[in-house]
Order: sequence, then structure tokens, then C-alpha cells
Amino acid sequence: MEINGSSAIITGGASGLGEATARRLAAEGVRVTVFDRNGERAKEVVEEIGGSANYVAGDVTDPDDCQKAVDQAAEGGTLRIAVNCAGTGWVGRVINRDGSPHDLGPFQFIQNLNVIGTFNVMTKAASAMATVEPQSDGERGVIVNTASVAAFDGQIGQLAYSASKGAVVGMTLPAARDLAVVGIRVLAIAPGLFDTPLLAMLPDEARSALAQSVNFPKRLGIPSEYGELVTHIAKNSYLNAEVIRLDGGIRMPPK
Ligand SMILES: NC(=O)c1ccc[n+]([C@@H]2O[C@H](COP(=O)([O-])OP(=O)(O)OC[C@H]3O[C@@H](n4cnc5c(N)ncnc54)[C@H](O)[C@@H]3O)[C@@H](O)[C@H]2O)c1
Repeated sequence: MEINGSSAIITGGASGLGEATARRLAAEGVRVTVFDRNGERAKEVVEEIGGSANYVAGDVTDPDDCQKAVDQAAEGGTLRIAVNCAGTGWVGRVINRDGSPHDLGPFQFIQNLNVIGTFNVMTKAASAMATVEPQSDGERGVIVNTASVAAFDGQIGQLAYSASKGAVVGMTLPAARDLAVVGIRVLAIAPGLFDTPLLAMLPDEARSALAQSVNFPKRLGIPSEYGELVTHIAKNSYLNAEVIRLDGGIRMPPK
């Protein structure tokens, strides 16, 4: 797909994988709309990117905020790319150390953010993309959602997180099938361990132990490597309905 001159919405674009994606797509001539709860940081990122980059401060779990962000992305250009990076993790076992059950609250919070947030932006972006002029082979756009290797290799304490990322994986094929008729592709990326503010919360020792657990290369992923893959996915029209692990070959152990 020709992406130069098109418009993209990137949720979670104020940090980590989303920020790197916004920067990479902008370098390809894409007009990026960063949609993030952290408006202050989103503003800084789009100022650094410059040009036509813009932002919407809002919450992906709020359908009205999502519509506003999609509208802004679609009004300023031809919306062809939607990337869902807003999300977070949670640690909690089925039963706690004292034998009490996993709280429902955090489980629901994680599904709401990682699954409903992705659903909200995917559906609204697809609806807008379905109205744009198709390119030569009938292609209108692409949606890239962010899963995790935890969808497949869920570790001890990842019940809520793995459930949410499993749902992102599960939506990929039916969404790609639903949207084939309007020329929109849907893929997901399942990142391994990336050096983003999410992992920066861990002490250095824990981070280097994690890096050693990667098959090859023995290091954390660099966010720009994620942005690079999103860009390739957007350009390569024959990629569709697939979940791509981007993980240095890591297979997560039980803990
Ligand atoms: N970093 C990793 O190693 C890793 C591995 C696998 C999967 N992932 C997934 O990649 C995605 C991005 O992770 P990251 O490491 O870049 O995290 P990050 O914390 O650096 O960035 C997440 C961004 O999402 C925004 N956000 C959070 N909740 C939001 C909401 N309700 N509405 C709008 N914006 C919201 C935050 O403000 C932040 O800017 C997440 O879905 C995460 O689960 C990350």
C-alpha cells in the first residue's frame, strides 16, 4: 500500500511502542494523529515530530473519545492506518498467596483497556476507512493491533493480561474476514520484551536477566523495531489476518 500522504491514528502514541510507530510513520510521509490519555506527553511527541502531526488527549475505553480521535485523523487526510498500542499489564494469580480469589476489578480493568479499547478504535477507524478512495487493487487501509507473547506463553500471574492479549489475537482473523469486502487488512503484532517505559519500571538487574532470556539477539527489543514492522505491514499488501511475533525468538517460561 502506498502510505506517503495518508493519515494514521496511533493509540498509546505518547510512549513506548506507539511513540516509535508515530515517529516512523511520520518519517514515511504519513500524517499521524497520536491518541493518548497522556495529553501532555502526546503534545510533546507531536511537537518533536513536527509537520502535520497532531494529537487527541483521551481514553480508548471511552467510545466518544475514540470517535473524536478517529474523526480528527480522518478529517485531516485519507485515513488508511490505525495502530492500537494503548494498553498495560497486571500481575495477579487465580488465587492469591492467602488463598483468596483474584479480584474481579483489575481483571475487568485490563480487559476494558486492552480489549475494549482495541475494539473501540478498530471498529471506528474501519468505519471511516471504508469510505476512503481505494488504491489500485481495491485496498483502503490496514489495522494493526498489539497483542503480546503472553497471549501464547502466559506466565504465572498473567491471567488478566494473557486473557486480554488472547482476545486481541482472536479478533484478528474474524476482523480481517469482515473487512476484506471493503479492502481493509487486519494484523496483530505480538511483541516479546521491549525496552519501553512499561519495562523501565523494573530494576536494571531484572531487565538484564530478562534480556538474557531472549533466544537471539540477547537484548530487549528496541521500540523502533516495532515501528519498523508496523511500517512494513502497512506497505506490504499481501500481509493479512496474521499475528506476527516480534520477540527475538523468546518463549516465556512459567515464571
Ligand atoms: N513493552 C513490552 O515489552 C511489551 C510487550 C508485549 C506487549 N506490549 C504491549 O504493547 C502496548 C504498548 O506498550 P508500551 O510498552 O509501549 O507501553 P507504554 O506504557 O510505554 O505506553 C502505553 C501508552 O498507552 C497510553 N494509555 C494507557 N491507557 C490508555 C487509555 N485508557 N487511553 C489512551 N491511552 C492510554 C499511555 O498513556 C502510554 O502513553 C501495550 O498494549 C502492551 O501491553 C508491550
